[in-house]
Amino acid sequence: MKHTFLALVGICPWLACLPMWSIADTTVTTASSTAPSSCHAERLRCEHLVEPLGIDTLQPRLSWIIAGSSETPRGITQSSYRILVASTPGILAHDQGDLWDSGQVASSETTEISYSGKALDSRQTCFWKVCLTDSLGKTRGWSTPAQWEMGLLHPEDWSAGWITGPTPANPTQKNEPLPLLRTEFSVSNQPITKARLYVTALGLYEMELNGQRVGDHLFAPDWTDYSKRSRYQVYDVTRLVKSGANALGAILGDGWYSGHIGNGGFQAWGKIPALLAQLEVTHADGEVERIVTDSQWKTHPSFIVSADNMLGETDDARLEIAGWSEPVLDDSEWSAVTMPLVAPRPLDAQVAPPVTETQELAPKSMQEPVPGHYVFDFGQNMVGFARIKVAASAGTKITLRHAEMLKADGTLYTANLRGASSIDNYICKGDGIETWQPHFTFHGFRYVEMTGLPQPPNLDAIRGIVIGTDIPHTGDFSCSNPEINQLQSNIQWGMRGNYLSVPTDCPQRDERMGWMGDAEVFVRTASYNGDIDAFFTKWLVDVDDAQRPDGWFTTVAPMPPGGNRTYGDSGAPAWGDSGVICPWTIYLMYGDKRILQQHLPAMTRWVEWCRANSTGLIRDKNRGHDYGDWLSQGENTPKELIGTAYFAYSTSLVSQSYAAVGDQASAEKYAQLFEQIKQAFNQRYVQPDGHIQGDTQADYAIALRFGLLPEELRPKAAQYLEENVKAHHDHLTTGFVGVSYLLPALSSQAKIDTAYHLLLQRTFPSWLFSVVHGATTVWERWDGWTPEKGFQDPGMNSFNHYSLGSCGEWMFDTVAGIDVDPTHPGFSRFLIHPQPGPGLSQAKATFDSVHGKITVEWTHQDGALSLHAIVPVNTSAVVYLPTMDISSVEEGGQPLSAHPEIKSLTESGQDIKCLVGSGDYHFTCPLP
Ligand code: BGC
Repeated sequence: MKHTFLALVGICPWLACLPMWSIADTTVTTASSTAPSSCHAERLRCEHLVEPLGIDTLQPRLSWIIAGSSETPRGITQSSYRILVASTPGILAHDQGDLWDSGQVASSETTEISYSGKALDSRQTCFWKVCLTDSLGKTRGWSTPAQWEMGLLHPEDWSAGWITGPTPANPTQKNEPLPLLRTEFSVSNQPITKARLYVTALGLYEMELNGQRVGDHLFAPDWTDYSKRSRYQVYDVTRLVKSGANALGAILGDGWYSGHIGNGGFQAWGKIPALLAQLEVTHADGEVERIVTDSQWKTHPSFIVSADNMLGETDDARLEIAGWSEPVLDDSEWSAVTMPLVAPRPLDAQVAPPVTETQELAPKSMQEPVPGHYVFDFGQNMVGFARIKVAASAGTKITLRHAEMLKADGTLYTANLRGASSIDNYICKGDGIETWQPHFTFHGFRYVEMTGLPQPPNLDAIRGIVIGTDIPHTGDFSCSNPEINQLQSNIQWGMRGNYLSVPTDCPQRDERMGWMGDAEVFVRTASYNGDIDAFFTKWLVDVDDAQRPDGWFTTVAPMPPGGNRTYGDSGAPAWGDSGVICPWTIYLMYGDKRILQQHLPAMTRWVEWCRANSTGLIRDKNRGHDYGDWLSQGENTPKELIGTAYFAYSTSLVSQSYAAVGDQASAEKYAQLFEQIKQAFNQRYVQPDGHIQGDTQADYAIALRFGLLPEELRPKAAQYLEENVKAHHDHLTTGFVGVSYLLPALSSQAKIDTAYHLLLQRTFPSWLFSVVHGATTVWERWDGWTPEKGFQDPGMNSFNHYSLGSCGEWMFDTVAGIDVDPTHPGFSRFLIHPQPGPGLSQAKATFDSVHGKITVEWTHQDGALSLHAIVPVNTSAVVYLPTMDISSVEEGGQPLSAHPEIKSLTESGQDIKCLVGSGDYHFTCPLP
């Protein structure tokens, strides 16, 4: 390390970011430019993803977080950055950006910075790094380099053709094994510098190259409306390809495309799955060899006798073909593939994390309720499948049945799976220990029953493989009440299993659709628990793809072609409004403005469609399958009122979205429309004393949260809401729709005690009722099972439905108190506003925002509140302290007045509010 440079940095902070050549005479490298307590850029992301392959947006957005150290002083921000993007690692290492050099940009921005360099082309790899200067004028030089790679941007980049296995005699029977597809090819002896496999399917695929599985994706290529677009994946297969003879193979499954989907759907998009694959091998001399799916490929029935998402999978290991994806096989018995006529459709790169195995669980116990029927309990309701390890003679058929619950006699309760039989079979080949898991099916289960083994199995015979979209985990919440902690765990497990390519309602019965209402009520909770920006970037395209030309959003997305009859016609309030609420929430939580720009046309069409389907701005027409406050308990909120309220809310969000993207005229137009709808709402439904038609909890919760009441009636409405809760002895009556607004409505109107009583309520109906009765995921119904009545109607009784878990956002933003500041979307500035209440003495949350990890923890003891908060570098927070006496507040054991860096924002007569910069804070104050 040369110290000259450190000294220079102190004088001239921007110098560290100059290209190598301009500081060559100092003979230092930027790697040595570390200054004590300086900050540095970490977690470099492109389009929300780490080192993605297959980016097909032309101006990818770059983001990083700023990491400090324990010595970093408080209140540090980024004062400038410089991004370099280079076409080779070597050029980047010389601190040159031949593709883009942003120059020194005076800005605190660290997220969503659009690449603005030379036009990028298909397959191009971009190497980048960033150097920042902090507000002390210090820098630690360049970040560790990262990279992204462009996908295939033009239709002509694809020279592959669609192929399928043999056309079955009766494709609707699905009684023939899944096809294997393969080709052999030779690669020249020139050194290989890079090999990429671009692949998609109508259906599902697993690829193998020279006997090795390609990638770890499950259920690729993602569920879309295949008639509108398909997503393709890009795999780095450089290490799998070799000079000389190679073989590439695929297994094709039906999946959502040609298998069963929700509510009786079957072969919704097509009858036979098809594959499109293109392998590109690049040599050191620049030559590219391309191996594509074409008529030369061959096909053979596989060992997968049948596979279906809902029904399960049967594999006969005796039919395995050793070396089927290796260049050693004699495939003379294989037949030619078929090349079907597939209408051209947009092929878009995958933009979300893939579905993968995310965890493996060992069973907690095994029982034998019926002789020979061994029931394993994983102790956790999950989504995925079982992996078994068995030894049995050839032809032994092992059957696995799956269930979320047990009957009183210890056997599986499967009635609630409806038509999703969820049975897997494995037929042993009999050559010692065999390890097996299915390929193209998944189940929602806690229990697995194994039959067919000649000997009783032990606990090592099975593992529960948890799958789901591999969303980065960002949030944790815990508190002094273990049952609430279990509720938080249940919420997270519900999200893990139901965010599977699309946000689904449930994972176990024959439904599993991208229900829009469910996604809408849960999206904010989800956005604390995981980084769902990329996941919604993908799904919101599905939502727009499903939108009807005149503007109504559907109830499910992807919507199968001609699916209206099966899935309900559309325009349903709350469900349709998902197309507005979800993009807005993603913008608020991540500061992702492009998602608004992309979806505003569709959001606006929806609002205009609602307007056209109203009389006097009352949503009295075409509410489709008008679900209302779905699954409410004993109170019926008028559906027309819900429709009008959501129309107003969506209009307000559209107005705010236009403002966010800088279109003030449209923002004003929809702000005015919102005021008019609000007026109509009040005239129609609200009495002069503030009573709302229906007088339900959902009524008041919705009206308060959507800002529909005149200021003077808000306290009245809050009072009626509280009275209603008390009349129900601190029980809720809300369903899917009202429930997500209930606690926020109460706490925003200073009814915090009542909100806590609801959250901590243990008897039916309440959040903790299911927890008390052993739930490990959130149930669909408040009374999915009760001691008095047993199981609810099996026609609709999922034990893994995240919707009623939408209280999770309140646990983060109000109990722990990590809340978004709507004037600073994406947590560049945020609120620390914990609101302790009766029944909890401590709460803690961490939220790994796009700017870094926020921590808030409070304890409440002997009338005093201690609050520990960590505010990431380059962010600030408004801290609320529940006292009016500023002299009673201390930070780090000293009065606030001793902290010039903490700025008081308090006006007289208010709780203490102060603005803090980054750092680690310990506040104490008396708690009234
Ligand atoms: C689903 C729900 C969905 C609803 C529409 C149900 O069958 O499971 O979660 O939102 O239909 O009401």
